[in-house]
Amino acid sequence: MKIRSFDDYQQAYQQSVTDPEGFWAGVADTFLWRKRWDNVLEWNFTEPSIKWFLGGKLNITENCLDRHLATKADQPALIFEPNDPTEPSQTLTYKVLHERVCQFSNVLKRNGVQKGDRVCIYMPMVPELAIAILACARIGAVHSVVFGGFSAHSIADRINDAQCKLVVTSDGAFRGNKEIALKATVDDALLTCPSVEKVIVLTRTRTPTSMIKGRDAWWEDELKLVTTDCPAEEMDAEDMLFVLYTSGSTGKPKGVVHTCGGYMVYTSYTFETVFQYQPGEEGRVPIFFCTADIGWITGHSYIVYGPLASGATTVLFEGIPTYPDAGRFWDVIDKHQVNILYTAPTAIRSLMSFGLDFVKNKDLSSLQILGSVGEPINEEAWHWYHENIGKGRCPIVDTWWQTETAGILISPIAGLTPLKPTYATLPLPGVQPILVDEAGKEIEGNGVSGNLCLKFPWPGILRTTYGDHERCRQTYFATYPGLYFTGDGCLRDEDGYYRITGRVDDVLNVSGHRIGTAEVENAINMHLGVIESAVVGYPHDIKGQGIYAYIITDHPHQNPELMKKDILATVARMIGPIAKPDKIQFVSGLPKTRSGKIMRRILRKIAEGETSNLGDITTLLDPAVVEEIKAGVV
Ligand code: WT7
Repeated sequence: MKIRSFDDYQQAYQQSVTDPEGFWAGVADTFLWRKRWDNVLEWNFTEPSIKWFLGGKLNITENCLDRHLATKADQPALIFEPNDPTEPSQTLTYKVLHERVCQFSNVLKRNGVQKGDRVCIYMPMVPELAIAILACARIGAVHSVVFGGFSAHSIADRINDAQCKLVVTSDGAFRGNKEIALKATVDDALLTCPSVEKVIVLTRTRTPTSMIKGRDAWWEDELKLVTTDCPAEEMDAEDMLFVLYTSGSTGKPKGVVHTCGGYMVYTSYTFETVFQYQPGEEGRVPIFFCTADIGWITGHSYIVYGPLASGATTVLFEGIPTYPDAGRFWDVIDKHQVNILYTAPTAIRSLMSFGLDFVKNKDLSSLQILGSVGEPINEEAWHWYHENIGKGRCPIVDTWWQTETAGILISPIAGLTPLKPTYATLPLPGVQPILVDEAGKEIEGNGVSGNLCLKFPWPGILRTTYGDHERCRQTYFATYPGLYFTGDGCLRDEDGYYRITGRVDDVLNVSGHRIGTAEVENAINMHLGVIESAVVGYPHDIKGQGIYAYIITDHPHQNPELMKKDILATVARMIGPIAKPDKIQFVSGLPKTRSGKIMRRILRKIAEGETSNLGDITTLLDPAVVEEIKAGVV
């Protein structure tokens, strides 16, 4: 049943709780299955073991591409807007996209990739990135996309964890007025990646590129050697579709695993429901523009798979919001007559800071629906977005979800759910949130706060963490037995509306990028002369959270400003520029308990600028250190 009123939503929600299997079978029946499933769901959150659509056979690319060919062959599937506004945009119809995916599937096969093999993709935001992803899915290879901002060291960690056999990359990437040498970074990574046999390199920037005989091949040359005909591999609903690495509270990112059937059903269903996606008069298809990078889950689910499985037209933008100027998003909307815009609070706050000059004279009248994702949206940004971009007439859907959830869990349904700024509002059908206290006891009723958990599976829930199921159990299913723990704190107000208040674990959200404090500490500690460090988040006007590092060194005689720069270089080398601390304070000690545990609560407060209300510090090993830290705040 399509949800077209708030009443429909309430009814669907009821059904999804009383008869989840019937509800999801109804949704799944709208897809193309080679063989229908035998059993909708088997699950327990103890092991955990979660299986959806058991025995079902499908290929997600037949759902994203082949099945649209009968009616939408000439409809745009993907509109590519390049970094440079003077470079022509490109439109790939469903027919063309299908053809290119099949062709690249054959390139992968020709280079030895078989069903189940892992392929690492490290690329700029160009159509070939979507094509490479879909080609993997078509032949049953597992893709592992690594965001283009990660360092060689991070790429190598991810490649080695999943034992990838092949890497797809490009010579370089355009980003604003910069040119970034991607292949050179891959080359550095591959010095320590024995599992990689082949590298396919797309030409994008013509950056000088070394090509190793026997290992590396140009994308364009490979295309000439294959046909455009490639039948899709038959996949089990629970076969792995992809792995995507994300940060947690330990130093090592985890490979979140999603599977074919559930991921397809969940991303497409939530795309159509939340954004009320439906073809209009005479079959006119709305233009959907998600500004995320495909290197993150938002791009996987709402640039590539969700929109394509729904037969939509999706915009893929290579550039950044501020190039050539802070009006670029609005130019893209104007140029392509975008109807639905899905972006992040950090982008809104950044563009807000440039003033309204960049918005005026832009035709934004095509916009109907606005979305927000990635972090809590503050009141000011919400209203700026609503008034200046939506001109007061477009609903904003504040969508809460995570890499681990595959798609949106808590969100208004555009135009139907009564909005409340800064609230993700209500759970989608099939989603059963619960708040618990520190002891794991359910907090019932309204007007309450607690830790956010889910008590029942939805088709997009992660199945495992790659190569380490125990870690999956520990991280998500052990804190509160029988529940999936999100890591987020949450308020449920008097109306039963949910508002996500932010992470309660040691995970930071910097400009919508998820970064673990332990990861940053490990990188800082790699630097010569660093003895120990502690990293916390602090409120940042544009990034949402900034990174504050307290560092003890054995080089107090060094020029501190130069040493800070060296440490930043080390962090960029170990993780990537996105993890560089915004503030560094050198300290002679850290506030520790007698058992040696760093009291982050105190460091967080000091970084936030709060120096009076530090709570009980009498249990500290050396309370005097707190005074020193307070005096040296940067
Ligand atoms: C974390 C997940 C969701 C895809 C992009 C980020 C925070 C996400 C919201 C929102 C408040 C949000 C949470 C969550 N978050 N959306 N609408 N309101 N917080 O995916 O990198 O896996 O990060 O982002 O803290 O746990 P991710």
